[in-house]
Amino acid sequence: MCGIVGYIGGGSAKRIIIDGLKRLEYRGYDSSGIALAANGRIAVEKTVGRIAALEDRMAGMDLDGHAGIGHTRWATHGAPSDANAHPHTSADGEIAIVHNGIIENYLELREWLSGEHGVPFRSETDSEVVAHLIRLYYEGDLLDAVFRAVGRMRGAYAIGAMAASEPDRIVAVRKDAPLIAGLGEDCNFLASDIPALLKYARTIYLLENNETVLVTRNEVSIFNERREKVKRDVYHVTWDADAAEKGGHDHFMIKEIYEQPKGISDTMGRRLGADGGIRLDGISLARRELERIERVYIVACGTAYHAGLVGKYAIERLAGMPVEVDVASEFRYREPFVNDRTLFICISQSGETLDTLEALREAKRRGARALSVVNVVGSSVARESDDVFYTWAGPEIAVASTKAYTTQLVCMYLLALYMGRELGRLGDGEYARLVDELGRAPGRIESILAQEKRVQEIAKKIYRSEQVFFIGRGPDASVALEGSLKLKEISYINSFAIAAGELKHGTIALIEQDTLVIALATQSRLAGKLLSNIEEVKARGARVISLAMEGDANVERQSDETIFIPRCADEVAPLLAVVPLQLLAYHIAKLRGCDIDKPKNLAKSVTVE
Ligand code: G6P
Repeated sequence: MCGIVGYIGGGSAKRIIIDGLKRLEYRGYDSSGIALAANGRIAVEKTVGRIAALEDRMAGMDLDGHAGIGHTRWATHGAPSDANAHPHTSADGEIAIVHNGIIENYLELREWLSGEHGVPFRSETDSEVVAHLIRLYYEGDLLDAVFRAVGRMRGAYAIGAMAASEPDRIVAVRKDAPLIAGLGEDCNFLASDIPALLKYARTIYLLENNETVLVTRNEVSIFNERREKVKRDVYHVTWDADAAEKGGHDHFMIKEIYEQPKGISDTMGRRLGADGGIRLDGISLARRELERIERVYIVACGTAYHAGLVGKYAIERLAGMPVEVDVASEFRYREPFVNDRTLFICISQSGETLDTLEALREAKRRGARALSVVNVVGSSVARESDDVFYTWAGPEIAVASTKAYTTQLVCMYLLALYMGRELGRLGDGEYARLVDELGRAPGRIESILAQEKRVQEIAKKIYRSEQVFFIGRGPDASVALEGSLKLKEISYINSFAIAAGELKHGTIALIEQDTLVIALATQSRLAGKLLSNIEEVKARGARVISLAMEGDANVERQSDETIFIPRCADEVAPLLAVVPLQLLAYHIAKLRGCDIDKPKNLAKSVTVE
């Protein structure tokens, strides 16, 4: 995720800003840069790659100053490259900016700036417009220019800006993206996140939406939208660096579980128009093209594969198209029926999983159109695909994938709904109902997260189990696989998931007194059948923990413990159902004393066969 660090004071701005950027490295980034005010100008250095590369680049230069802004970039608009890295500057170098977030009307602003004002653009980013816009309004007062520029922008942003003519000021502004100002001795700071400043400042101001801050060596002043000075109480940071990186959570995994409502909103937000229409980021999948497609293949590994399984249900059910799902390592070595009438969808959080990448290459060799659902912008899978539909989960750090999965599901639903509507296989009413259901998911997930204590209590009762069976039907069977994977990955419990109807064909032989069974019963259409499966295992002495829709008294009666999710449409229930399972896995692993964020033998990104 993008990070901002700013410094103004008596020390070396270069050293302090680079140090701060390093503190944000854990969040993931693809490029970094720094702007320093020195000798009446602003010097900018930026590069794709690690911060060490930026340091190397600056090592031989006699470049430093007492004020500067730095940035780590996680690409959204435009691939990771030197040109797209921040800071961005105005054409004459007077203004330098760093930006986190998205300027939604950047295309409009870009056209206007280049058309009406002849502004030359040097990057593919949305952020560059900010530098030019501030320059346009700059008449010697940076604070005034930022106010005027912000009035033209729509979107989410935390922006730090400097002007060469005013080396003693940094101006920053925020809307829907975090920004803080830190108070030092004979110096002051700016940052997107607390960890960046911990070494230097523990007394900070937390800026609120639509506030602008003027930072000088001796003063930090906060202004509201009406340019009035506001008073803010200081906040004293008591966390240590480790806790701060995790936003106060014990582990990245739980932090990322809690980030799901936001990730889902971000992933949906840009695609769902106010008219209820779905925009596929410019991907051309018109009716004519869809009608040519005979079959959809979804290929992925691990958690992404599980998202693909739910995608199969969604596309078959909503778009009426045949879908095959395969794990990439198998797909590569089969003789799949893939040709130029195949839509090949690969799903990957990292975009670097070797098997997925090779499967994609194989599908393309066979003539398929390749669309990828990827989290990391500019990753190999994204670069080699014909089309990319990004998940906007932000960087996922814990090895056990959580927010990537739920945002992948959102992408699959959006694709399925779009295809269904385009092909005329989904009535207006049903389409509107499901779009509405998707829109409600973030709020419903919040309410599941509010039940964390209850899940923790259940975890306390079962964490010593050495064997667990997950069962479910329909989409629940896929969620069962993901719930089971989460548990085994981080707690090392021998966990197994099976379609509930298959139980009696073998696995039920393993069910005995006190065997733990986790039954997913969110599918109203299949509720009766699932109840029978619960009965089957209960009759053999199993302890059953069920996951059911709010108010499902039948399941509650038959189960030892029941976790409820808010009532929702069967189709989108996987988005909600997985969350208690993530929490359960997390708390069980925690009680077992496992290294949750770095489970043994596992890697976040598997770039070997
Ligand atoms: C590894 C990770 C999993 C992930 C899988 C696929 O096994 O530990 O969490 O689901 O790779 O990764 P991808 O980046 O392609 O989604």
